[in-house]
Amino acid sequence: MTTSRLLAALSADNFISGTRLGELLGVSRTAVWKQIQQLEQLGIEVITQRQQGYKLAAPLSLFNKAVIGQQLKENASQLELKLFSTLGSTNDEAKQLLAAGKTSKLLVLTEMQTSGKGRRGKSWVSPFGSNLALTLGFKIDADISSLQGLSLALAVELQECLNEFCSIDLGFKWPNDIYLNNKKLCGILVEVGGDFSGPFNLVLGIGLNLTKSNQFNSIEQPFICLEEAGFIIDKNLLAARLAIRIEKMLPEFLTKGFAAWQEKWNKQHLWYGKQAVLINGANKKQVEIKEVNSHGELMVINEDGQLESINSGELSLRLIE
Ligand code: BTN
Repeated sequence: MTTSRLLAALSADNFISGTRLGELLGVSRTAVWKQIQQLEQLGIEVITQRQQGYKLAAPLSLFNKAVIGQQLKENASQLELKLFSTLGSTNDEAKQLLAAGKTSKLLVLTEMQTSGKGRRGKSWVSPFGSNLALTLGFKIDADISSLQGLSLALAVELQECLNEFCSIDLGFKWPNDIYLNNKKLCGILVEVGGDFSGPFNLVLGIGLNLTKSNQFNSIEQPFICLEEAGFIIDKNLLAARLAIRIEKMLPEFLTKGFAAWQEKWNKQHLWYGKQAVLINGANKKQVEIKEVNSHGELMVINEDGQLESINSGELSLRLIE
């Protein structure tokens, strides 16, 4: 019995008895009970009542391979879909699959990550079913420098994709944090691997908070999910359309660069004109934030009043309130 089959049989509306679950899944009541315990270990809350059986504490929306596959097919996508219930990290999985050389275009999705990765060595919280953990992997034959600004362009693509579902106004924090109502909604992690003298492996990871989960409370910064802001979006359609969009934009990006996305990015630029501290390791300096240039670099006015472009993804910015 797989986790996904059990979850498909459970609902948040009505109780279902252990006996009925056992019949549906072809296992004993004891096996059902053990599997329910495992769901709880994944952080999925199940309400158990002696006479009535089991029900989910909150509705859970799961990935549907057929729905996503159909969308990919209808849009002539070449992405190979890899769908998991749990994974360490979708980015790591995509890197391994590309390195094994069996595929050159793939979409990795999982309901939950146990070692989700954020930028600058941070972890990314991906509770079961509550976070869209999506990675696209490509074998790319291009100069590595053509990737400059790609993570910013992905933020623009995400904003436009979400706008196909609802009217939502995101804010971008350079280089690639996506905010809603001044709280972090989404993060992007672009990684490369392989031999840079020839085709290399490009991994584009997006983590988007969808629905409420107690596990988000371990996040150390203000965060938000779409549900909390009143947006309920079909995550199968969202994942498929986002992946298709990115698959389509990537060749254009690799030839034209960030310039075609620059204006749209600057429209959502959260900290334009603000005073901030730019942190690079132990070095800190005060700057005034200007727009992002055609390479995706952040323009700032430094302490000497000069315009400077900042291009290191290792820098971090703190607003001076
Ligand atoms: C950040 O803001 O620090 C970037 C977060 C990126 C998280 C996503 S979730 C899907 C993909 N797999 C990972 O392990 N990380 C990225």
